[in-house]
Amino acid sequence: MMKIIVTGGAGFIGGNFVHYMIKKYPDYQIICLDKLTYAGNLETLESVMDNPHFTFVKGDIADREFVYGLFEKEKPDIIVNFAAESHVDRSITDPGIFLQTNVIGTGVLLDACRIYGIERYHQVSTDEVYGDLPLSRPDLFFTEATPLHTSSPYSASKASADLLVLAYHRTFGLPVTISRCSNNYGPYHFPEKLIPLMIANCLNDKPLPVYGKGENVRDWLYVEDHCAAIDLIIHNGKVGEVYNIGGHNERTNLQVVETIIDALGKSRDLIKYVTDRPGHDMRYAIDPTKIHDELGWEPKTKFDDGIKKTIQWYLDNKEWWERIISGEYQNYYDKMYSNR
Ligand code: NAD
Ligand code: DAU
Repeated sequence: MMKIIVTGGAGFIGGNFVHYMIKKYPDYQIICLDKLTYAGNLETLESVMDNPHFTFVKGDIADREFVYGLFEKEKPDIIVNFAAESHVDRSITDPGIFLQTNVIGTGVLLDACRIYGIERYHQVSTDEVYGDLPLSRPDLFFTEATPLHTSSPYSASKASADLLVLAYHRTFGLPVTISRCSNNYGPYHFPEKLIPLMIANCLNDKPLPVYGKGENVRDWLYVEDHCAAIDLIIHNGKVGEVYNIGGHNERTNLQVVETIIDALGKSRDLIKYVTDRPGHDMRYAIDPTKIHDELGWEPKTKFDDGIKKTIQWYLDNKEWWERIISGEYQNYYDKMYSNR
């Protein structure tokens, strides 16, 4: 029986991963360690809370004493680290917490792995560590060999964590893997991010704030495909390796917003062009050849199907996101968008 600590499992991708693993491996013991920041939501885990193979533990990955205590008690086999501050815009207004959680927190987890011993430490990283690609070169893609070249405090903190992870492999022989994924979308996505924000605003007939000209390109991956890739990496991936994950689903932000507007039968007049994000990355595009060839991974969900499923999920689960946008998040929204 395998025991896995999933950090950040009350967030968007971590939550989806917890559900994915419990369904696929009913005998595994899954422990979710999450600080429950503004982005963590226990309602995401409601349906598994009473499962005897699942445990929720509230705590901070950067709290060394607490993390060591948990490792000593649980003796996990695998760590999958999703816990992070994940929103680029917040990293521009308040970088400090990104260094604390994303860098120091990762360092504490790595030390715990070293001291207590594990079979695998997996770091959930991002394609943003590669910086961006120019719109004029659609032939270019990020490979695992693309140099790190970060733009925001968020991506710089994620790149720093990746370097630490690889250093612990080389120096201490820690059995690590890293995955660098493109933009995810799907159920339980916090409504500060582009897709859920636009769905929620559309449904409430609120303006849809598009940064700059809406020309920036993201490579969208349905969250379940990301979970499947991590599952393959932790079981069959080669120790010390980095795997890029992405599905060749490139869209401009404007295309994404217009797809949502049309699917919900709203007017494109809702679009409001607002001041651009400072340092805004132009285009992300992943070359997933390595994970395809070595581990047989390929995405199952095409963007046109995934976005329909996602919109339907937000229609069916209004309580989940309405509770979020009616609470503390409203203060953030006013601060971020009122004078933009
Ligand atoms: P999220 O913001 O939805 O969730 C993050 C979770 O981490 C929350 O539950 C939060 O409470 C928890 N957390 C934050 N600080 C913590 C701490 N100090 N200790 C313990 N828990 C803490 O993020 P997400 O979008 O689900 O992203 C998860 C991971 O995947 C991140 O590492 C992110 O960098 C990476 N990633 C995200 C995307 C994407 O499109 N969302 C794409 C590629 C990689
Ligand atoms: O590429 C992976 C990354 O994707 C992850 O590492 C990050 O954690 C995740 O947040 C995401 O980063 P992005 O900055 O690409 O995602 P976001 O949803 O914030 O923005 C997507 C695009 O939409 C980006 O070009 C900015 C734009 N945007 C975003 C918001 C919130 C808007 O035009 N208007 C908005 O209101």
